[in-house]
Amino acid sequence: MTLPLRTPRLELRAYTADDAAFVRDLYARPEVQRYLGDGTRRVTTIAQAEEKILGWDDGYAREPVLGVWAIVDPVGSLAGSLLLKPIPDSGADTATDVEIGWHLHPRAWGRGYATEAARAVLAHAFGRGLDRVVAVTHPANRASQAVCARLGMTHRGLSRAYYDVECELFELRAPAAPEREAS
Ligand SMILES: CC(C)(COP(=O)(O)OP(=O)(O)OC[C@H]1O[C@@H](n2cnc3c(N)ncnc32)[C@H](O)[C@@H]1OP(=O)(O)O)[C@@H](O)C(=O)NCCC(=O)NCCS
Repeated sequence: MTLPLRTPRLELRAYTADDAAFVRDLYARPEVQRYLGDGTRRVTTIAQAEEKILGWDDGYAREPVLGVWAIVDPVGSLAGSLLLKPIPDSGADTATDVEIGWHLHPRAWGRGYATEAARAVLAHAFGRGLDRVVAVTHPANRASQAVCARLGMTHRGLSRAYYDVECELFELRAPAAPEREAS
């Protein structure tokens, strides 16, 4: 299940069926979809939004680390999604690495919410044993690249390792465990 998380300003929780109108509004927007894949994930009906939420709930039902979080802002409004999921390898039906992603509603841009939510999810991921998380962005998606930079992710340049497309690749490794003092 997508475990609930908190940050100083935000609540991160699983989406529920009651969030379908927001999910449709978020994923129908051209400014949100602009750099997301080939646009086929666009959601235009409530039924599609409900299906998307059910897919997330089913997909992560028995998953203690990965998930799709609904970001709730300080006044209780939904601000967007934070995702921690397997990332498909190019040219193979495999997903060996884990990616982090952020999809915020335009009304929630420019407040630091994506970075704040991602920090909490990364701490959760590394705290539960993941040793590496990647992020990929469309080469022109400067706003998303700026989030990666704020998170301290290392820029690996253009890569075709995932999704069969060329993306800017960023990665972050788990903080090294503190070395034991020699006794
Ligand atoms: C990518 C995306 C999440 C970036 O959102 P964002 O709001 O710019 O990112 P952050 O949450 O890091 O916010 C940083 C901005 O908030 C500002 N900010 C305001 N108050 C702040 C606060 N209290 N703390 C931190 N930053 C704050 C920062 O100055 C910065 O603004 P700037 O970019 O004008 O310098 C957003 O553009 C989006 O959802 N796009 C559509 C989906 C998408 O493309 N996702 C990525 C796919 S790879």
